[in-house]
Amino acid sequence: MLFGKTILVTGVASGIGARTAELASQMGADVIGIDVREPTNGNAAFIRGDLSTPSGVAEIVARLPQRLDALANVAGLSGNTGVVSTLAVNFYGLRALSEAMAPRLREGGAIVNVASIAGYGWRANLERAKILTGIEGFPDVSAVAAEHGLRDEEGYPLSKELLLLWTMRAAHDPLFKARGIRVNAVSPGPVETPILKQFRAVLGDARVDSDITRVGRAGTAADIAPAVLFLCSDGARWINGANLAADGGLEASINAEVLGF
Ligand SMILES: NC(=O)c1ccc[n+]([C@@H]2O[C@H](COP(=O)([O-])OP(=O)(O)OC[C@H]3O[C@@H](n4cnc5c(N)ncnc54)[C@H](O)[C@@H]3O)[C@@H](O)[C@H]2O)c1
Repeated sequence: MLFGKTILVTGVASGIGARTAELASQMGADVIGIDVREPTNGNAAFIRGDLSTPSGVAEIVARLPQRLDALANVAGLSGNTGVVSTLAVNFYGLRALSEAMAPRLREGGAIVNVASIAGYGWRANLERAKILTGIEGFPDVSAVAAEHGLRDEEGYPLSKELLLLWTMRAAHDPLFKARGIRVNAVSPGPVETPILKQFRAVLGDARVDSDITRVGRAGTAADIAPAVLFLCSDGARWINGANLAADGGLEASINAEVLGF
């Protein structure tokens, strides 16, 4: 389903992005990887770039080809560097890259955003998410954080709440919809990658361990990559604006508790 396709994968130097790029290559895709760090494996053509600033995104875009089939937005920060950098990379930078690349994605192409179970609260915090996703372009994130009183400790879940809401908005945004570009999300639960240690520091061991206990084990990058690539493929051609939980049943378990069934 990916043979001959050109797929752009951000966050390619580690964890889920690295495995997604590797699997896409194995499935016959041409992969272009982006990361702020150099990858140690050489599966993808690599562009070093920083998604945390408007100029960083512009530099990446200037080096990308004119035609792509899919964009997998995997790069992310854990929140341990504060709300400003976390919102910049996990949401505003990701969105700026996606919007800049929309005209170069082929008709019927795909964008897949790696969100998280941590974004579960988007409905409960909908008004805030509407305002923050309604800010156009790549704003001065420090000013946004100051104006809205955003706290460092809420940076990670907030970034994923915004990403989940924007995924649904983007699915109906003419920029993507007019050319049949699908925009979907994959939401992992805890996954054994370097970021998990940082989550333990940010969220506490108890929260992470409780999530792992609910589903029996942590995920691996190899559990998430096929879900991302399915949504990149034409096999998902009628799936748009969806959030695919890749979490061993964690969201179902939390739903049962929160909704009482
Ligand atoms: N591992 C988990 O438990 C888990 C759970 C839910 C969601 N996620 C999400 O999955 C995605 C991938 O995480 P991972 O587990 O592979 O973590 P990881 O830390 O292994 O990989 C993240 C990658 O993003 C890159 N990156 C960070 N800032 C960047 C920037 N400014 N510009 C370009 N690249 C940048 C890093 O260099 C790194 O290679 C993230 O969006 C994360 O929020 C992870």
